[in-house]
Amino acid sequence: MVTPYHNPNDKKNEVRAMFNNIAPRYDFLNHFLSMGIDILWRKRLIRELRQYAPALILDMATGTGDLAMMAARAMPSARITGIDLSSEMIAVGVQKSIRQQLDQQVTYEVGDAEDIHHADETFDAAMVAFGVRNFADLSLGLREIGRVLKPGQPLLVLEFSQPGSFPMKQLYHFYSFSLLPLIGKLVSKDPRAYTYLPESIRVFPSGHDFIKVMENCGFTNCRQIPLSARIASIYIGHRKSMPQQ
Ligand SMILES: C[S@@+](CC[C@H](N)C(=O)[O-])C[C@H]1O[C@@H](n2cnc3c(N)ncnc32)[C@H](O)[C@@H]1O
Repeated sequence: MVTPYHNPNDKKNEVRAMFNNIAPRYDFLNHFLSMGIDILWRKRLIRELRQYAPALILDMATGTGDLAMMAARAMPSARITGIDLSSEMIAVGVQKSIRQQLDQQVTYEVGDAEDIHHADETFDAAMVAFGVRNFADLSLGLREIGRVLKPGQPLLVLEFSQPGSFPMKQLYHFYSFSLLPLIGKLVSKDPRAYTYLPESIRVFPSGHDFIKVMENCGFTNCRQIPLSARIASIYIGHRKSMPQQ
């Protein structure tokens, strides 16, 4: 298992510690390293989400709340609950929501995707941006998200995937394994975060493999929307109507 600081038995605590470390610079580095493309990807996810007109939305692994706030702006009558393991990431999100006057619409909780403190069938939709790759137990996290979703309702996952063809594959490899760690070393207080990122993407299931995982975790009608030559993908699945085993 790939973990931030190399202890395969303690991914959850390592992930929490890493995001607590990088929280103050996370937004800047995120947009800088992706050259702003992550914003377009999030917008695309919100466009898909809007079609369901959800009233109550779960943003799991909300981090500093960008996706939650984007959903709030796009759907002014929706309420969004953002949950994240890292209290420091949440603290940044809370301040941003207050500044953007979205704090009535977006509420934050420190919590764990693998043990969600909400009742069964609470939410009309759930979303996770760049979070599932960091779960210590991916299946447990997806099943828990399914448990708190109403039957038939969607889970939208935005995650890095693997570009498959020339020249994007080669360019991506150079960027993520050479340039990204170098930039991370120069500008981040936790350079390990920027070697963990490409390593964790390399071993994470993408495309059909991720869809299979979703199906095994109680989601149906699953599909992938590839983005930017498959550097990232949106996966959409719907909680099965029958009870989950
Ligand atoms: C790369 S950040 C993404 C944050 C945000 N969704 C975004 O798009 O900017 C990944 C986040 O996942 C959170 N995370 C990882 N494992 C988690 C878990 N089991 N439960 C809740 N949050 C988790 C981390 O704390 C971190 O804030």
